[in-house]
This record gives sequence, C-alpha cells and structure tokens, in this order.
Amino acid sequence: MHPLLKQGNKTYLSKRLYAPGMKLAHISDIHCNEGNDFNPKMFEKAVTLLNKIDADLVFITGDLTTWGLLSEYELARKKLGEINGETVVIPGNHDERNLGFKLFPEFFGETDFIHTYKEITIVGLSSSEPDKDDGRLGRGRHRLIEEGIHKNAKPTIIGFHHHVIPVPNSGRETNIIEDAGETLDIILKNEVPLVLMGHRHVPYGVKIHKTLLVNAGTFSCTRTRAHFGNTFNIIDIERDMITVTVVNIGDETQKDIITYDLSDGCCYNGYYEIESLNK
Ligand SMILES: [Fe+2]
Ligand SMILES: [Fe+2]
Repeated sequence: MHPLLKQGNKTYLSKRLYAPGMKLAHISDIHCNEGNDFNPKMFEKAVTLLNKIDADLVFITGDLTTWGLLSEYELARKKLGEINGETVVIPGNHDERNLGFKLFPEFFGETDFIHTYKEITIVGLSSSEPDKDDGRLGRGRHRLIEEGIHKNAKPTIIGFHHHVIPVPNSGRETNIIEDAGETLDIILKNEVPLVLMGHRHVPYGVKIHKTLLVNAGTFSCTRTRAHFGNTFNIIDIERDMITVTVVNIGDETQKDIITYDLSDGCCYNGYYEIESLNK
C-alpha cells in the first residue's frame, strides 16, 4: 500500500457503515399545486411503485409545494398520506414562499433534526430561506451536522434540499448553497458516507473523497428536464455497500447508477449510462 494511504496505524479507508440491510427511498420535488405544476397521475403511479418497494424509510428532500400556499400544504399532507411506511421530510425553497415557512412545521414537523434510525443517524436540514431560491445552511446547521456525526458511533446520512456542488443537465448552475465550501469541508473531513439533495429536478450522483453526493429528480412535477422524466432513487445500504438505483416512473424502469463499497473505497458510477442522457 502506498505510504500516503496510511495515517499512523490507521489504514486510510472510508469510515465503515456496518449497517444492517436497509432500504431508503429518496424522493424529491413533489410540487403539489392546483395549477399545472403537479402531475397527479404521475404521483399516483409513483406512489404505487414506491409502495411496492417497501422501503424502510422514505427521505423527502423538499419542494412538497410550488408556492408554499395553505391549500398546497393541505394537498401535500393528503398525498404524503398515500405513502406507506416511515417518512422524513425537509422543506425546499418553494415551501418557504408566501409565509409557507410558518406552515411547514405545522404540517410536517421540525425543519432541522437529528434522528436515529436503526444503525444510522439521520440529519435533516432546511437549506431554504423565505422567498429566496438560493440556499444556505449557516453556522447553526453546520453545528447540527457535527452534533449528528459525533452524537454516537453510528454512521450519518445528511439530507437538505439545495445542492452542495454543481449538478449537470440542469441548466444554468444557480442555487448551489452559498456556504458550499464550508459545508463540503465539514462533510468530507468527517467522512460522511451519504448526502441526499434535490432541487434540480434531475437525478445525479458522484463520489467525492469518501462521500457519496446524491440528487433525486422530481417525483411528480410537470417541470421535468429533456428526457429525464419523473424519477426517484432507491438507496440500498448493506453492511459496507451503498447502491443507488434511479427509478424512471413513466416507463417503470430502473437502473443501478452507483455502487460504492466503503470497505475498500471502490465506487462504480454508471451515471453516464442512463439512457435518457444518450437520446
Ligand atoms: Fe423543485
Ligand atoms: Fe427547489
């Protein structure tokens, strides 16, 4: 082994998960709306697929509504009720519009939290601010990330709406969180194995250092990009292995795009084999 891959006696591998089998569904950008933004038929199809998967936990990374309106929150709560099993929800920029930031806790609970689920610590963070599309976490949430990481020996999964690095195939690269550098630094130095994000309405995943950064596409918004359609992610965690699968809701197909073995750091990324990229 190259000497640079060792630090003292510690072999310089990824922090291991040792998690028992766990299936996460990662969905995002539902965009409940009474106008044209929400596709109810797609939502119905998506929920049927999602419920068949029988995930241990459904992580929803924001934009449950389009305008943050009371009627949209009511619709979102009703629609989320159709999802079987346990869900965790964080707000997106759209949910904070029109005083929607006051409605979110009323409908879906706390916007920033640390939960323990099975052998995993889950940190959910609101990266949005009222009536702004830009995202920012800030020092308070950075402290929450560190608190979640050091709370116990369990590996940590972090979720927030905006993206911490640019996402390809999403047009002009706006809305990367304003404090992306500081956030990335905390995530990478603590070897957080998995970060979940949404916002750009396209699926994406990439490993940086020892962290897998994963974006979910849009679950049921009509604003899809090119041939990507509506998608969600299935994330299987089995001991040291993370597998990310993208489910295309419209044609009911699925493709494993990433397998990451934390025991040896090997990561296979099949993102560029997604057929919709090659059309
Ligand atoms: Fe969105
Ligand atoms: Fe968004």
